[in-house]
Amino acid sequence: MAEPLIRAEKLVKRFGPFTALNGIDLEIYRGEVHALLGDNGAGKSTLIKVLAGVHQPTEGQLYVEGKPVTFQSPRDATEAGIGTVYQDLALNPLMSVTRNFFMGRELTTGPQPFGLLKMDEMDRITHDEMVKIGIDISDPGQAVGTMSGGQRQTLAIARAIHFGAKVLILDEPTSALGQKQQMEVLKTIARVRARGDIAIIFITHNEVHSNLVADRFTFLALGEVIGKGTKEELKGKDIRHLMAGGVEMADLEQEIAAI
Ligand SMILES: Nc1ncnc2c1ncn2[C@@H]1O[C@H](COP(=O)(O)OP(=O)(O)O)[C@@H](O)[C@H]1O
Ligand SMILES: [Mg+2]
Repeated sequence: MAEPLIRAEKLVKRFGPFTALNGIDLEIYRGEVHALLGDNGAGKSTLIKVLAGVHQPTEGQLYVEGKPVTFQSPRDATEAGIGTVYQDLALNPLMSVTRNFFMGRELTTGPQPFGLLKMDEMDRITHDEMVKIGIDISDPGQAVGTMSGGQRQTLAIARAIHFGAKVLILDEPTSALGQKQQMEVLKTIARVRARGDIAIIFITHNEVHSNLVADRFTFLALGEVIGKGTKEELKGKDIRHLMAGGVEMADLEQEIAAI
């Protein structure tokens, strides 16, 4: 099998006496959608914050394309090609789509730092990058506040890809959206997947959503991996059992019936 794009080996993360991650092994392959599943408190966000350079692991090692890496900051992770799309999306609703797309990385002409913005070129790039993943915004000068939740997700994703992400981390991108918007985000994920060169780590609570778009799954419970594999490898396994963090559904049914 090919070298994983990202590999985490025996990651441990402690917050004081509390162990949030307890020896996690994770492999992310190029071009795949990798669902990271688990109940609240399982350690999903902590794990991706280690991958994104927000937290330093207490123990363990990260590898990017086989090389050991240490991220001191989110900037280090971004430079290594790991882009994170956080729930708040880091967008300014009052500014235009284009200005949000280039925020802090504007194209300018003339002497720095007072160069003129190349607005036409930035509009064109923004429009083209959005079309590539399925949204044709007729006016990139429109304010982001006029876009739907699903379109905003797409903008944040297109931006991360344009600025060099090889791995996109999406932390519960569908959880704050209505049904229709959720489908838009899943379609965006499927379109990125179809490019074939970008991996997505898709964190979700939703078994149906992960089944629709994911190639590979890792299940976390209480800071440990309790199951992993491709869709094929997991055939016949009790996904619902893994989703529930290993709790026996039959036991739960009995307990509820007894109340
Ligand atoms: N900065 C922190 N300090 C202390 N405990 C934390 C911190 N971040 C997360 N935790 C704890 O680690 C556990 C895992 O949290 P988290 O990674 O957010 O889980 P998930 O995203 O799967 O819901 C939780 O018990 C949480 O309270
Ligand atoms: Mg979380």
